[in-house]
Amino acid sequence: MYLGLDLGTSGVKALLIDDDQNAVASGHAALDVSRPHHGWSEQDPAYWLKACDEAIGELKASHPKELAAVKGIGLSGQMHGATLLDDADKVLRPCILWNDTRNHAEAAQLDADPRFRAITGNIVFPGFTAPKLLWVRNNEAAVFAKTARVLLPKDFLRLWLSGEHISEMSDAAGTSWLDTGKRRWSPQLLAATSLDESHMPSLVEGTEQAGGLRAELASGWGMKAGIPIAGGAGDNAASACGMGTVGEGHAFVSLGTSGVLFAANAAYLPNPESAVHTFCHALPATWHQMGVILSATDSLNWLSQITGKSAGELTDELGEALKAPAGVTFLPYLSGERTPYNDSAIRGSFTGIGHESDRPALTQAVLEGVAFAFRDSLEALAKAGTTLSRVTALGGGSRSRYWLKAIATALQIPVDLPADGDFGAAFGAARLGLIAATGADPASVCTAPATDATIEPDQRLGDAFEQAYQRYRALYPAIKNACR
Ligand code: XUL
Repeated sequence: MYLGLDLGTSGVKALLIDDDQNAVASGHAALDVSRPHHGWSEQDPAYWLKACDEAIGELKASHPKELAAVKGIGLSGQMHGATLLDDADKVLRPCILWNDTRNHAEAAQLDADPRFRAITGNIVFPGFTAPKLLWVRNNEAAVFAKTARVLLPKDFLRLWLSGEHISEMSDAAGTSWLDTGKRRWSPQLLAATSLDESHMPSLVEGTEQAGGLRAELASGWGMKAGIPIAGGAGDNAASACGMGTVGEGHAFVSLGTSGVLFAANAAYLPNPESAVHTFCHALPATWHQMGVILSATDSLNWLSQITGKSAGELTDELGEALKAPAGVTFLPYLSGERTPYNDSAIRGSFTGIGHESDRPALTQAVLEGVAFAFRDSLEALAKAGTTLSRVTALGGGSRSRYWLKAIATALQIPVDLPADGDFGAAFGAARLGLIAATGADPASVCTAPATDATIEPDQRLGDAFEQAYQRYRALYPAIKNACR
């Protein structure tokens, strides 16, 4: 048995898999995001630990024998968050999350220093960790002065689980402090934010052991003390391990809170100019590129909140057959956008609304808007040298066939749907736990699931989608200044 723990934005998931990688059981606990000011997004790390305890507690209640047989643990988590600790490992302030854009000025300041793009291979986005520290230095000087260590969310979980300060390459690549090609911290970039390597956890590959389970927690959960904990991965690289997206040319589209178009690469291929992210993968000597849109299912959830209908009810109202875009356009920039604009000030919009625009018309526009945002990422990946010929879909939003048809048609490539099963970040984390505990060959563990269905682009609607995409593209420059 192996245990994967995924610390997501909306909850913690604990997944047990057996030695043949079959999912056995899972436990969950929900998390809330606090948004005290415009552009802010925070979580109290104490809730992560409580949620993790609850999720594992659920497994203990339902599968105590299997939990007791766990031989390795893997961690996955929401990326980029800044968890600030004092010299006694006490949390100094709520964690500033990946979709927090308060620090756009600090991000622009660091991005203007050519060393950041040259060494990290990425734009310094406001969501990334380094500009958050600059914001804290500028606005909460007392907190900054006490900061002895900066940990990413899942690595704070590791500290609690094992007592160790360790991170791994895939998550570290999202900090703006990693030399992504060489896979090590950059003392120069740390110094640019008044920090040094003593503030950072040590680094391992995602497949290596990085700590063992503390006896106190192990006994509470009925598990063995000292079980190896793998380095693990940021949630996108972890999902890639779960989906078998580890070899050159493999790609997925993830419809979660954020939307990600992810491609695995056998080499380091940075291209910050197209706002593509180039990060280390969780497997040694492997990298990946991705386009990130900040509000994917979050856009549908927003519509669901204001209409009082669940996301499922909203998509059900559309039926199964893909419709031609009807003239209402939605820009999904509820918290700004990363790829392709790196614009934290932009906000979403509906345009083209008429008296006839009913709720289904707005839902249709939201699904199309997110599909067009993925098309923007596809174009950005192409500019960075990666042409995709098909993608596999994952994440909560992939339950909507309508949405997948819109994405296949907007991207003009087939979208594969994996056979029923749990192949997300928690599964990828469990696989990394298995590799760290057994020394198994990563490529032979991280295989792709069987494909259940392939959704082809709807050729009848290809031209209509292309025209609607061009309309969508033209709207960003048109509304840009209205949001400032
Ligand atoms: C990736 C990113 C998001 C978070 C979501 O760069 O910011 O996908 O990892 O959890």
